[in-house]
Amino acid sequence: MTESFDVVVIGGGVIGMTSAWRLAQTGRRVLLLERDRTGAEASSAAAGMLGAQLEVSEPGPFYELCLESRSLYQAFIDELLEYTGVDAQLNHNGIYQIAFSQEEVHALHRRMEWQVRGGARAEFLSSTEVTNEEPIVAENYGALHLPDDSNINASLLTRALSIAVTQTCTVVEGAEVTTVQRQSAAGYVVSTQSQTYFAGAVVVAAGAWAQRLLPSFPGKIQPVKGQLLAIRPRQGTLKHTIFNDHAYLVPKQDGTIVVGATEDREAGYNRDVTVDAIQYLLSSVKRISPALCDAVFEQSWIGLRPGSSDPHPWIGQLAASPGLHVAVGHFRNGILLAPVTANMLVDSVEGRPWPTHWQAFQPERASVESGVTR
Ligand code: FAD
Ligand code: GLY
Repeated sequence: MTESFDVVVIGGGVIGMTSAWRLAQTGRRVLLLERDRTGAEASSAAAGMLGAQLEVSEPGPFYELCLESRSLYQAFIDELLEYTGVDAQLNHNGIYQIAFSQEEVHALHRRMEWQVRGGARAEFLSSTEVTNEEPIVAENYGALHLPDDSNINASLLTRALSIAVTQTCTVVEGAEVTTVQRQSAAGYVVSTQSQTYFAGAVVVAAGAWAQRLLPSFPGKIQPVKGQLLAIRPRQGTLKHTIFNDHAYLVPKQDGTIVVGATEDREAGYNRDVTVDAIQYLLSSVKRISPALCDAVFEQSWIGLRPGSSDPHPWIGQLAASPGLHVAVGHFRNGILLAPVTANMLVDSVEGRPWPTHWQAFQPERASVESGVTR
């Protein structure tokens, strides 16, 4: 028998779970279908930085979206804690983007200038100020301090969201969606290998695998493999997240430091932890904070970022398929962007007009920008 729901959400990562939870809070009957376990993929692997100012290279709609989502985070984590009893450990520790050369100092000053002009907090610290605050960081040329960027524990966040969706939605794990077919003006038939469901609205939030469900989607969604590791310092640790030249050290409340991350577009869906990647990450630790060389190696892992042919995520209803919504391509910032993405999808499903600054993320633009590689 085909069971009916108001909305079927495909994919139980942070994007699908946050959206399903918010949609259920509007009173809708929501079904969440997850191929594996909820949180099994990129979302629990992430370093958990809420790097709205760190991760964006220029002002514009994407920067605005990141700032908006960061501003929603404290209330999001508090609500999840109250609702599920799981604390995702939002840590307002700020980020130091360290300079180890004069060129890096210039680049960081340029970033600081446009961000401060736009109203954000950012300050350049001298090397003495950095050393006073972070005595175990290597000799440096100073750092851009982003006090409002923070971090959470991604694995605890996905655990909290799993509980939240289990309490508010029908959740089926081990359910790989094979097809989504428009049946009538009233909605879609969503099929797994063993079951079919009917829904008035469908949200595709299938991360790096989303293209398989959206064969005619003009953008290219592809996995971008990232490898990370965690170390436990023996003595002395970091207060702030430290970032330099693609490498970062994120201190967590459990006393570990997460070190990330590689970015590999050629690896496809490969899940191996490789010698090269571990060597790169460990040499980054040694370069940024030589005092951490006697830290204990705890674990290493990989995640597959939902990368795409465009620097921005695609969110909202597909114009040619009324009732079919997407939330894909969050790449390096899906943890950060989960709260605002869920709000956008609720408005999209409810047919409410979006504010102008969200419109840059509508899926239609994929046809214009497809083919742009980043
Ligand atoms: P996923 O978490 O991958 O979830 C998609 C889900 O869909 C999966 O569970 C999958 O099993 C399921 N699925 C796929 N196909 C189907 C199907 N056919 N049927 C049913 N289910 C299906 N972001 C930040 O904001 N800050 C960070 O510091 C950060 N660090 C990162 C570090 C690394 C190394 C990596 C890899 C990512 C990092 N990210 C970070 C990015 C972030 O993890 C992702 O952008 C985010 O998790 C994407 O969420 P998602 O729900 O779209 O994808
Ligand atoms: N945002 C950090 C990463 O994707 O590695």
